Amino acid sequence: MDRGHERPGQSVQPNRAALRKHGQALVCHFAVALRLGRLYSHKHQNFAAAAASLEECIRSVLSLEGACSFARVGECLFLNKTRIKTDFRSHQSFRFVLEVLKARDLGEMRFDSELTREEIEGLVTLLNRQVPSREDPWHELEAAAAVLGLDRVHLSRHGESSDLNVQDGEGGVPATEIYFKAITALEAALEAVKGGRGVDWNLLKRRVQTIVDIALGGGSQLLALTNVKDWGSPLANHGVNVAILSVMLGAKVGLTKKLIADLGLAALLHDVGKVSLPEELRSCCREALSGADSRCYEAHVSSGVEKLLQQKVTDGVAKAAIVAFLHHLRFDGTGYPRLRVSQRQNLYTRIVAVADFYDNATAPGRLARAALQGEEVVRAMLDRSGTELDPVVVKAFVNLVGLYAVGCLVRLDTGEVATVVEPPANPRFLDRPAVKVILEPDGSPADRLVDLLEKDEAGGFRRSILKLYEKEAVRLSLNEYLAVL
Ligand SMILES: [Fe+2]
Ligand SMILES: [Fe+2]
Repeated sequence: MDRGHERPGQSVQPNRAALRKHGQALVCHFAVALRLGRLYSHKHQNFAAAAASLEECIRSVLSLEGACSFARVGECLFLNKTRIKTDFRSHQSFRFVLEVLKARDLGEMRFDSELTREEIEGLVTLLNRQVPSREDPWHELEAAAAVLGLDRVHLSRHGESSDLNVQDGEGGVPATEIYFKAITALEAALEAVKGGRGVDWNLLKRRVQTIVDIALGGGSQLLALTNVKDWGSPLANHGVNVAILSVMLGAKVGLTKKLIADLGLAALLHDVGKVSLPEELRSCCREALSGADSRCYEAHVSSGVEKLLQQKVTDGVAKAAIVAFLHHLRFDGTGYPRLRVSQRQNLYTRIVAVADFYDNATAPGRLARAALQGEEVVRAMLDRSGTELDPVVVKAFVNLVGLYAVGCLVRLDTGEVATVVEPPANPRFLDRPAVKVILEPDGSPADRLVDLLEKDEAGGFRRSILKLYEKEAVRLSLNEYLAVL
């Protein structure tokens, strides 16, 4: 199994890890200064405070590295050639700053140590100026910077100064970017369906294809992201999580790339019929409802088919309609919709049903009030194996995720604290994933990968998981985990 570009025992270079954190902070401070610069005059105390924070951030990079270069290559941002990654807290700031730089064709800002506060305020004001309609926004920007006398801020046009490469040891577009883009695309698609407009199928298929490409290459970062339950609209967040889990499962059971892509699209849209439901019913489980609410909720399966058939029906859309219709028909034929003719779920639907169950079980307030985790989820799935869920698919799924979900925070019997970064490589040992140790037994920070399948000289396992931390702690660890991955 691919363990990524670091092997167990290796450490992230300290400067690189520090730069990634500084990079995220710089993006956030830039975004705040730009936004406040649009609301207040440059003399207002709110804007002055934001410019001061931005200056402080730049100065800390200068003292750490002796240089500070903030650059863009395509859709990526870099701080001193280290790629800045996003997590779900910083993603909106990241997109905002990226769009500002793109609109002006700006590739790099290099800051001298003699930089003044006035120059930072001038730079922010300059970047906030309306983009000219002329074809060459870069030359306008360059000329305006010269007029303002920004001597200690060196600006370069995109693609002209930097020897950066988006592949710089980072493995292409980050999984977080793919995840957030998929949610945004699904939100737009659901809005289109709700409003009776045509869906941008090409965009949606492109988003699914990138998920498939990552899944076929290992995909553990995407698995970690399915722990995110509250980004974007609940319906789109759930759809993308189910799509990732289904695609990973499709790859696990050996489907071809084309079939996995169709499966991903169908999984993304399995709950499309819920766009017609009142907001309060969308994130419920049917078991929690009764009477009219229950009947209204159940209707999302037939409504889903109707809505998809109003679109341009291609092979992929037809497959998605079948999954939308049958994903609550259980493996043993019970469930809904209640049909006059006996109907079995196809493989796509059986896979989506398992992924759907898992995402609901691991989110708070859906299957149970508290999110299930660790052995609880696996036990809940095994309890339903052969009745509600296909036993073969459940077995493949448990082998895929293990007992401890990627992104979980755990304490080891050595006293170390770690996050799970990959499911177990050996399905016989579902409690032995690969982990990243983030705290030493004495509480000091650590940063190394270890595989819990590793044995000592006596043939015993070197480390075992002692306890799983609560879900809220997991959420916090996920942000940190994604920032350094
Ligand atoms: Fe559903
Ligand atoms: Fe669902």
